[in-house]
Amino acid sequence: MELGLNGARVLVTAASRGLGAATARQFSREGARVVISSRHLEPLQETAAAIVAETGNPVFTFPADVTNPEAIQRMVRNAVDTMGGLDVLVTNAGGPPAGVFDDFDLAAWQAAFQLNVLSTISLIRECLPSLRQSKRAAVLTITSVAAKQPVQNLTLSNALRPAVVGLTKTLSLEVGSEGIRVNSILPGYTSTERITELMQARAAKNGTDIEDEIEHIAAASALKRLATPEEFANAAVFLCSPAAGFITGVALPVDGGAILSW
Ligand SMILES: NC(=O)c1ccc[n+]([C@@H]2O[C@H](COP(=O)([O-])OP(=O)(O)OC[C@H]3O[C@@H](n4cnc5c(N)ncnc54)[C@H](OP(=O)(O)O)[C@@H]3O)[C@@H](O)[C@H]2O)c1
Repeated sequence: MELGLNGARVLVTAASRGLGAATARQFSREGARVVISSRHLEPLQETAAAIVAETGNPVFTFPADVTNPEAIQRMVRNAVDTMGGLDVLVTNAGGPPAGVFDDFDLAAWQAAFQLNVLSTISLIRECLPSLRQSKRAAVLTITSVAAKQPVQNLTLSNALRPAVVGLTKTLSLEVGSEGIRVNSILPGYTSTERITELMQARAAKNGTDIEDEIEHIAAASALKRLATPEEFANAAVFLCSPAAGFITGVALPVDGGAILSW
C-alpha cells in the first residue's frame, strides 16, 4: 500500500526514544521529513543521526519541554520554518507518575495536567495555522489504554487521558470541513525504555526478575505479550497518512486486545 507520505513535513514530540522515536523512524522510512523534539538535546541528536543513517531522509532536532508553552511556541516556529510548513503533528509527552488518589496533592495534579493535557492543547494551538495550509493535514494524539479502561495504580493517567481523547474527538468535528483529520492512539504495554525501567524497578521491589514482571503485565492482553514500538509506529503512521484519508475522530487501541469492551 502506498501511504502517500513522501516529502510530508512531520513533527513528533517526546521523540528521543520510545513510542515517539519509533514513530519518527517509521515516518522517515516512508520518505517524510521529520522534526523530533524532547527535553535533552544529546539523546535527541543521537536518535536523529540513527534514523538518518538508516533512511537517508532529513531529521531535524529542536529541544523543548512540552510543559513550557513558550518553549513549544519557539520549537514549533523553528520546525515550521525549517521544513517550510507542516502536514502532520504527533503529540506525545512523558507519562505522569504512578500512584493512587491518596498519593497526590493538588500540585501533582496540576503538573500532570500540564504534562499530558495542556501540552497537547498548546501543541495543537501552535500547529493549527500551518496545518490549515496543508493538503494532507493530520493530528495524532498519543494517549493510553487508560483513556478507556482504568489501569491499577495509574490514577493520574486514568483521570487525564480521557480529556485528551475528548479533545481529539471534538477537534475532529470542528476542523474536519477544513480537511484536517484528528485521531488518537491508545497504546497498551509496549516494550519501550520506560517499560523496561518500570519493570526493573518492580522486580527489584518484589524480589523477582524482570521476565516475571513482563510476563505478568503481558497476561493482561489477549495476545499475551507486549507490543513492539514498531507495531505502535505502524498504526500511528498509517493513521496520519493520506491512505487513512477517511478516518478521523477515532480512538484506536493498539493494545493486543487488553481493553475488554468493543
Ligand atoms: N510504553 C507503554 O507501554 C505505554 C503505554 C501506554 C501509554 N504510554 C504513554 O506514551 C508516552 C510515551 O511513552 P514511552 O514508553 O515511549 O516513554 P519513554 O520511553 O520514557 O520516552 C519518553 C520520551 O518523552 C520525552 N519526554 C519526557 N518528558 C518530556 C517533556 N516534559 N517534554 C518533552 N519531552 C519529554 C523523553 O525525552 P526527554 O527525557 O529528553 O525529554 C523521551 O523521549 C507516555 O506518555 C506514556 O505514559 C506508554
